[in-house]
Amino acid sequence: MQQSRETWGSKAGFILAAAGSAIGLGNIWKFPYIAGENGGASFVLIYLICIAVIGLPVLIAEILIGRTTQRNPVGAFYKLSNSKFWAAVGGMGVVAGFLILSFYAIIAGWSIGYIIEAINGNFFNFPEPASSAEHFQNLVGNIPWIMGYFAFFMILTMVIVFSGIQKGIERASKIMMPLLFILLIILMIRGLTLDGASQGLDFLWNPDWSKITANTILLALGHAFFTLSLGMGAMLTYGSYMSEKDSIPVAALQIVILDTLIALIAGTAIFTSVFAVGLAPDAGPGLIFQTLPVVFSKMPGGYFFSILFFISLTIAALTSSISLLEVVVSFFVDELKWKRHTAAIVISVFIFALGVPSALSFNLLNDIKIFGFDFFELADFIASNILLPLGGLFIAVFVAWIWGYDKVIPNLRKGAENFFDNYPLLSSLWKIFLKYLSPVLIFLVFLYSIGLLEKIFNVFS
Ligand code: PHE
Repeated sequence: MQQSRETWGSKAGFILAAAGSAIGLGNIWKFPYIAGENGGASFVLIYLICIAVIGLPVLIAEILIGRTTQRNPVGAFYKLSNSKFWAAVGGMGVVAGFLILSFYAIIAGWSIGYIIEAINGNFFNFPEPASSAEHFQNLVGNIPWIMGYFAFFMILTMVIVFSGIQKGIERASKIMMPLLFILLIILMIRGLTLDGASQGLDFLWNPDWSKITANTILLALGHAFFTLSLGMGAMLTYGSYMSEKDSIPVAALQIVILDTLIALIAGTAIFTSVFAVGLAPDAGPGLIFQTLPVVFSKMPGGYFFSILFFISLTIAALTSSISLLEVVVSFFVDELKWKRHTAAIVISVFIFALGVPSALSFNLLNDIKIFGFDFFELADFIASNILLPLGGLFIAVFVAWIWGYDKVIPNLRKGAENFFDNYPLLSSLWKIFLKYLSPVLIFLVFLYSIGLLEKIFNVFS
């Protein structure tokens, strides 16, 4: 028996929710530090190209699978292919959602913890990089601190997904996304008006071609997937609540533009500030939690801006984490006929449990390494470097080669007739990119990840 399925209340609701999924820790935490470690502008340039030629085409494909089938990833692939293999590809997305959320929520938890640190004015007690780094180590080394905020963030995520598509995810996104934009623009203006901001701008906008290596390209492509929430069915699931009256190409373009804009705004806010107070841009994952507090302690109005910053980071993370949980919940609701409420609670508890070893890898289980990774790094590596690219590859291959353009195009045209008639060139480019360029390039990234894995195996055997 087919239960009636929820839908978005409006087109804007879908765009904000999907942009909310895309915009997250990836934009504000990961993008600046990867760019900072990989030559700034040169990385940014390659990243923009990856977003345009691979991210956008795959995003359109993923939303389309969802909207056409109105199912979770497993049900969607099965409905279109009638094959267990493709259903398993959808299953991989559900597993990825489970796994990504188990470590994503830990970092998001730090972000909440840092709102409190900022409110308490603690950054002024640790005004240089070494003591700030030590303070960070002490916090994540404190088991009740890390577990408490992790649990708190999971509860926030659960409550929103529990409340459903329109009343939960859409409403939360409609409130939080505009707030996030405003906060980040304030932070960017603060950065741009600091003395010495131009060095940061140079770093972000003047490419140094000599810094571009194969590694940069592969990192940029991997990040393009992560930041657009591609390859694990989040966009597919959000697309499954979308109306056939709305245009997928236009929606996808809007999502990509918003996501990229936010990454660049966050990057500008962060690098202008970091350079203005004379700190290094290449601190890696600690850039936000170790370097930035020092930056805030030195900038005029730093107390106020530090609070705004960590509130923004938390909001961004929350609108992404709900999409991760929704993928898993929709699977249990559609396929196993669970009640949404039960699914949201039970799955959140399991995701928390799965995240415990990752959270403990910053303290108690510090020394335990699997293939050279601690639990946290292992979960991140499996999800971001294996499951997402592989999922993206399968999505491109499925839409372009298995489902086939003769069936794909009539579905894609729904709500987008004008787009197709007005931009025939873009439509052809989409077909070609998705069929040839995306699979080949994604495959290369994937090989690279496996290569990394092999190197690690060699070290340990
Ligand atoms: N896109 C999110 C971010 O940038 C992360 C994410 C990945 C969310 C995959 C959902 C699915 O933080």
